[in-house]
Amino acid sequence: MKKSWWKESIVYQIYPRSFKDSSGNGIGDINGIIEKLDYIKSLGVDIIWICPIYDSPGIDNGYDISNYKEINKDFGGNKALDELIEKVHLKGLKIIMDLVVNHTSDQHNWFKEAKKSKLNPYHDYYIWKDGKINEFPNNWRSVFGGRVWKWNNKTEEFFLHLYTKNQPDLNWENPKVRKEIYSIIDFWLSKGIDGFRMDVISLISKRIAFKNTPDNMSFKDVMEKFYANGPRVHEFLKEMNREVLSKYDIVTVGEGPGINLKNGLNYVAENEKELNMIFHFDHLTIDFGPKGKYDPIPLNFIRFKEIFTKWDNLLANNGWNSIFLGNHDFSRIVSRFGNDKEYRVESAKLLITLIMTLRGTPYIYQGDEIGMTNVSYPSIDFYNDIETLNAWKEASINGENMSEFLNAVHLQSRDNSRTPMQWNLKRNSGFTIGDPWIPVNKNYKNINVSSQLKDSNSILNYYKRIISFRKLNATLVYGNYKDLEPNHPYLFVYKRWDENNEFLIIHNFSEKYLGLEKKITLNYNLVILNYENVKNQNKIRPWETRVYKSR
Ligand code: GLC
Repeated sequence: MKKSWWKESIVYQIYPRSFKDSSGNGIGDINGIIEKLDYIKSLGVDIIWICPIYDSPGIDNGYDISNYKEINKDFGGNKALDELIEKVHLKGLKIIMDLVVNHTSDQHNWFKEAKKSKLNPYHDYYIWKDGKINEFPNNWRSVFGGRVWKWNNKTEEFFLHLYTKNQPDLNWENPKVRKEIYSIIDFWLSKGIDGFRMDVISLISKRIAFKNTPDNMSFKDVMEKFYANGPRVHEFLKEMNREVLSKYDIVTVGEGPGINLKNGLNYVAENEKELNMIFHFDHLTIDFGPKGKYDPIPLNFIRFKEIFTKWDNLLANNGWNSIFLGNHDFSRIVSRFGNDKEYRVESAKLLITLIMTLRGTPYIYQGDEIGMTNVSYPSIDFYNDIETLNAWKEASINGENMSEFLNAVHLQSRDNSRTPMQWNLKRNSGFTIGDPWIPVNKNYKNINVSSQLKDSNSILNYYKRIISFRKLNATLVYGNYKDLEPNHPYLFVYKRWDENNEFLIIHNFSEKYLGLEKKITLNYNLVILNYENVKNQNKIRPWETRVYKSR
């Protein structure tokens, strides 16, 4: 396994709207991030990934870009970003940006031109289909509900949008489009940024026959077989790598809806020269029921472990994994995979121990380091996220029981992870002196950075400990992995080892007290624990996590 700085790094993801507002307009900004750089550095992480901060009408909170080379004024504009890049580097950190090039905003100049006429030079930047106003070209459904086709009166055609109707998909078949994109990438890399997280990059190559999907196919399969992994995706990624990425010492991570164990390696194998890592969603769609995300089912823990094991096996000798449990598109990890009530502190510590002891580059999402939880706003009126609002509309049109649906929103809405960062006990949790764009979670008086800094047993201080432990033990980065108890219904027990060291890691993913066979820990010393001490070696407590090192 080849060693690289980005394999040994730990990434901290910032959702800028909700991180820190320095101007008082209620929206987080770049200066806010600059104010908090010492805090970020103190966690022990290496790379900051910032969600999109470019010009955007904000229909999808910045994932709808209207100008790729301008930073949104709300966030502080290009000057502020230059300053951030400089300060990040002075602190010995790195910074990666979000690259959203499957689609643009409908307010992007390219699209404004494209929709004027079929002869416009930008027309072919997007994907069009002839038809009649009420006859959709095919039956495809958008990721955010409704159809993927929107009628354009001027040219009497439909355009394709896999996300909202304000996010028209770019036509990667057009070499001019690809050239533009590579020049955008080059623009930012030459400013000194250290890489990109590439939004829904698995979707860029379309199956241009646009065949109907079978009626009974699950959305997951539709994604895998119809929308993602198109015939030219690897050709495009190789070209992008050759034309621009390979000229810099950077890291790339591709967001990969539809990427699975069968096709995953094609994106990240070293000899393929495409991307360094991908985010797959096998474990993050694990609780989606027959009707999808807003139809959640209980988590199958054995399957959960199996996903980590299979992905580790797949990438053990080639490519590289990214290890994450949440981000700005999913609920809070402690609410989803832990216990956000009685065992919030223990389970938050357990989850980060899992992340820091698996093979791959670990990603931390802002706020998880203090165990921020899901938010249960009292009604839909408090929600902001377009995906949530569209799902709500669709459910009410379909006559669903809306009070049950509100429960599903409480569990699954993307806004769960988008509430403002909880800095301190002041008004609005110290996030803003104005009115926050989305209400702060009411629990901020119990859960905030300033209180946890003072408490040596806090989640925050545990994060620092386990992060530095990982940094000191390359075995945890590169070492082999084996699940020792794949069928245990509550315990996740695995080994990490190389020629120098061996670790045994035990997590109890339940509220139960469980017995532990004495012999399994016999030749090890306990080095990390999420409780104050061990009272009984052979009994593992609710949400207890232990890391042992061989003697
Ligand atoms: C990705 C982003 C998500 C966005 C979508 C469309 O999944 O993470 O936030 O809504 O792409 O760009």
